[in-house]
Amino acid sequence: MATLFKNIKELLQVRTEPVKFVSGKEMNIIPTIKDAFLLVENGLISDFGSMRDCPSSNFDEVIDCTGKMVMPAWCDSHTHMVYAGNRESEFVDRINGLTYEEIANRGGGILNSAKTLQETSEDDLYNQSKVRLEEIIKLGTGAVEIKSGYGLTLEAELKMLRVIKRLKENYSIEIKATFLGAHALPKEFKNTSDYIDYVIEAILPIVAKENLAEYIDVFCETGYFSVEDTNRILEAGKQYGFTPKIHVNQFTAIGGVQAGVKHNALSVDHLEEMRDVDIEALRGSQTMPVALPGCSYFLSIPYTPARRIIDAGLPLALATDYNPGSAPSGNMNFVVSTACVKMKMTPEEAINASTINGAYAMGLQDKVGSITNGKLANLILTKPINSFGFIPYSFGENHIESIFLAGED
Ligand code: NIG
Ligand code: FE
Repeated sequence: MATLFKNIKELLQVRTEPVKFVSGKEMNIIPTIKDAFLLVENGLISDFGSMRDCPSSNFDEVIDCTGKMVMPAWCDSHTHMVYAGNRESEFVDRINGLTYEEIANRGGGILNSAKTLQETSEDDLYNQSKVRLEEIIKLGTGAVEIKSGYGLTLEAELKMLRVIKRLKENYSIEIKATFLGAHALPKEFKNTSDYIDYVIEAILPIVAKENLAEYIDVFCETGYFSVEDTNRILEAGKQYGFTPKIHVNQFTAIGGVQAGVKHNALSVDHLEEMRDVDIEALRGSQTMPVALPGCSYFLSIPYTPARRIIDAGLPLALATDYNPGSAPSGNMNFVVSTACVKMKMTPEEAINASTINGAYAMGLQDKVGSITNGKLANLILTKPINSFGFIPYSFGENHIESIFLAGED
């Protein structure tokens, strides 16, 4: 099966040489080819270049892209999009003045979602989650990471992870699974140390045996899990071959970034509260900082200081954090736009952060995130637009004409 995209106004994120991620000043450059063609064979990108060099043979399909752009689909490296029900009532509580912390202390928050999920059947959870997955695909996402963490019991955590596995089997979007057993302390446990014992001894071995996750996560935060808890869970995870990808510095900076770097985390995510020492800790590491502007927007908390991070020469990825409590939206277009408006990222930086760097933050940099021969043809075809900066500029508008996963729309 060969598909030719021809007369592309501008082909974005063209990387002839494979790139792991981009950082610092490089983030401000999106390599493009104007008036381009792109050839997709058997689901993979097989050739691209200027229309002057466009191959002429009998392709199965030819798509005329006059006036439109083609770019790699969004790579959303942090979501909790397998969940049951919603937390609309807490939304109203917050409008009426309660904080996220106050709601959690009253038994709302993560424990509220866990209760609902525990009472939901696996089939029902699958059906609720697939609606969200289909929606984010329409919004241009071609690779997504999904976490457990609304189970908090062996049975319910496995339910979540099995739903993620079913989504992987049934959809052609790339999916990576993360085990987030240590997301909140269930009421049945007196302290985090006892719960961590349970996660390590009762859940982790089964998640590993059933091959249900690639990554391990923990909510390292005041009132949730300490740095010591984090060290324990990441050590144990590593014994089973799970790479850390962790929640840190959302409300308070307690040393989570340093713990992540020490354990060679693939990413440290949130980072709304960043001290200079936290930025320094990331220097020279292979750990990707990940910002979640949808969460800052929805909870009215500070935005991750993207300028300080990028201007320190570091990379940055953007993701949605799609979840029922702090970011009930999986729209990467909104994330890209919000990063520009609120975090002062340029369109180039936001697009790099949401494609190549997002791919790295879920270990998919060899498969997606750029227009490179041999990568999956997970692509966005835009509607006619003048420049790619128009995508974040005209926020809330839909600029996507179609999305292709492994070359199929
Ligand atoms: O990434 N911070 C921890 N976990 C989620 C929110 C979970 C929830 O409120 O349900 C987050 O923001
Ligand atoms: Fe999260």
